[in-house]
Amino acid sequence: MNTAPPLLAENVHLAFGGLKALDGAGFSVRRGLVTGLIGPNGAGKTTMFNVLSGLMRCQSGRISFMGERIERERPHRIARRGLVRSFQIARGFPRLTVFEHLMVYGPRQPGERLGAAILGSAAARRREAELAERALAVAARLRLSHLVDSQVTALSGGQKKLLEIGRALMAEPRMILFDEPAAGVNPTLAEEIGDQLLSLAREGLTILIVEHDMALIERICQRVIVMAQGRTLMEGSFDEVRADPAVQDAYLGGRR
Ligand SMILES: Nc1ncnc2c1ncn2[C@@H]1O[C@H](COP(=O)(O)OP(=O)(O)OP(=O)(O)O)[C@@H](O)[C@H]1O
Ligand SMILES: [Mg+2]
Repeated sequence: MNTAPPLLAENVHLAFGGLKALDGAGFSVRRGLVTGLIGPNGAGKTTMFNVLSGLMRCQSGRISFMGERIERERPHRIARRGLVRSFQIARGFPRLTVFEHLMVYGPRQPGERLGAAILGSAAARRREAELAERALAVAARLRLSHLVDSQVTALSGGQKKLLEIGRALMAEPRMILFDEPAAGVNPTLAEEIGDQLLSLAREGLTILIVEHDMALIERICQRVIVMAQGRTLMEGSFDEVRADPAVQDAYLGGRR
């Protein structure tokens, strides 16, 4: 059995000019848990997500996913390994319905398009039907079934946040990185999003979530990692982290 932690980042550096956004940050994430990644504004949390998902390349450091090094891999390869990141809703698909939007993000087999074009094959049609079934199941679990034929542009901000979770789920992930999935939504919906993440973790998905809403972090995270100024300050339970003087310092005086 593979006992490697799903995600392991070690000594990661990335500077923008003279600004050390990541200055030796590193942590590991445990399988099947919701882990919180917190820290003051500018701590490097989003930059870390960019590096983990391959959107930015770190200048040095090691990142392993399921025991294999990924720090030099392109984003689509990392996603295909099952490490998927959530975004703000994609602006590139304004005319799609919710159903179509989910279908666009379903996993594709290499060469599938070519195969389908040449053969129009039964296998390709079967694959399409499976994807459609998956899209409907994802919509149902996010309680978006009544909206599958609505245009994405017609959704409320909160519904778009749920759809963004759905997009990540369509990719058949083993682990999802959520960057502020509940930012700007009302408390009821924030709770709903929290419940969704908890139930995904219960089914075995590993989740790393950046979030400033500490009530949400306290409710859903079994572990919390604190970053400040491009480094990892500490890891522990929410209570341990909250009680730590260095963490309190980082939040009160650590802003640059
Ligand atoms: N593309 C970029 N070019 C230059 N500087 C950047 C870039 N992206 C981030 N930074 C800087 O790197 C530092 C870390 O930013 P980052 O967005 O990772 O912080 P964060 O922890 O996600 O903060 P927040 O909680 O406000 O989202 C900040 O000082 C930011 O201004
Ligand atoms: Mg950020």
